[in-house]
Amino acid sequence: MDKKASLTLPDGKTLEFPVMSGTIGPEVVDIRTLYGKSGYFTYDPGFLSTASCNSTITYIDGDAGVLLYRGYPIEQLAQQCDFLEVCYLLLNGDLPDAAEKAEFVNTVIRHTMVHEQISRFFTGFRRDAHPMATMVGVVGALSAFYHDALDINSAEHRKISAFRLIAKLPTITSMAYKYSVGQPFMYPRNGLSYTANFMRMMFAVPAEDYKPNDVLVRALDRIFILHADHEQNASTSTVRLAGSSGANPYACISAGIACLWGPAHGGANEACLQMLEEIGDVSKVGEFIRKAKDKNSGVRLMGFGHRVYKNHDPRAKLMRETCHEVLDELGLANDRLFKLAIALEKIALEDDYFVSRKLYPNVDFYSGIVQRALGIPVSMFTCIFALARTVGWIAQWQEMISDREYKIGRPRQLYRGAARREVVPIGQR
Ligand code: ACO
Repeated sequence: MDKKASLTLPDGKTLEFPVMSGTIGPEVVDIRTLYGKSGYFTYDPGFLSTASCNSTITYIDGDAGVLLYRGYPIEQLAQQCDFLEVCYLLLNGDLPDAAEKAEFVNTVIRHTMVHEQISRFFTGFRRDAHPMATMVGVVGALSAFYHDALDINSAEHRKISAFRLIAKLPTITSMAYKYSVGQPFMYPRNGLSYTANFMRMMFAVPAEDYKPNDVLVRALDRIFILHADHEQNASTSTVRLAGSSGANPYACISAGIACLWGPAHGGANEACLQMLEEIGDVSKVGEFIRKAKDKNSGVRLMGFGHRVYKNHDPRAKLMRETCHEVLDELGLANDRLFKLAIALEKIALEDDYFVSRKLYPNVDFYSGIVQRALGIPVSMFTCIFALARTVGWIAQWQEMISDREYKIGRPRQLYRGAARREVVPIGQR
């Protein structure tokens, strides 16, 4: 029998709404007809209780610390797959077999170059611009370079745009870095893996090549896998909302990058490293924790807490493991900031303030330390996140456009401004 939920309004009238079930996870009350039937809206700032869409891509159980991409646990994907396999999975719904993977990788690597005119476009930016500001501009501008495949109603065009975005983001990200340090752009080299190619474009210079180290490539590839998608978070919801108007995919991904930049979202790993630098020494941890607990200080323990994970962030455990591997490989096991991070984590995990609020380290607590050890400057951390999340954004955008129920997004509001009033001419006010 179909389940229903009933709602009694202040006038005593009772309305019934269908209850919908997913494969796993909480059921939802379908209130699409609420306004039409009752004249009421729901009030849910921050969408804490609202499912904005139905999706088959990613599942999170925040209480149990579970993250699944297309049903596969993140731990298994991080340990047994590479990033491009995960991209294939997110876009197509299943892991590829060997032939499918070879074809997918081959298509991605044949799209890694960007239109030569894009390198001129970079020169319009100041060298000291934040690379995320450059990324927002350049990714948005891709629609001006690739308008041969911008029909969002064409499945073929959407597929081409998806390949272009996944393939070109490493090139653009490395260009944003090279531009900021005044070095020449490095062209992609398609004989390398996706992640090794990115590292080479970041760290090689025309005068000296860069030999990717397998342990470090694997670590960055894991960062990409762990950040590839995360259900209906702020930036993904931004991409969906922008795309719901029919905007082109490059504009939508640029909107996602802009949203990701904030310190409460993708900017957290950068903010976390800055926080560690500011604390500076293990002896100052106690004082910092006191500040983070004081609401008036405006200080938060960056890299701690998550809107959805209220037990542990499964990505954090994997990132912690990677952190050890990278520091060992580079002989940095005694790294000052890493030791500081471990001390901070230990104290916070035992402190009643953090325990009672279910605040645990999130993935970004460790990803910043790993990236710093790889030689990636702090200002590039969020760009790396954007590179990795592009596949999730594009998969979610594709899913939305292909959904027969999709409509332009239009939240409502509870208006608390002035009631209607008349304009008085300026001399009489
Ligand atoms: N440090 C100190 N106190 C915190 C922190 C923190 N990092 N996070 C939450 N709190 C406190 C709040 O002050 C609040 O306390 P109260 O109940 O006494 O008022 C309580 O915990 C709940 O906080 P909310 O902000 O309501 O929690 P929410 O789930 O909305 O926020 C968020 C989640 C934004 C991630 C928050 O924990 C935060 O700001 N963390 C630091 C930034 C960060 O690491 N962001 C990365 C997110 S992961 C990602 O984007 C990949």
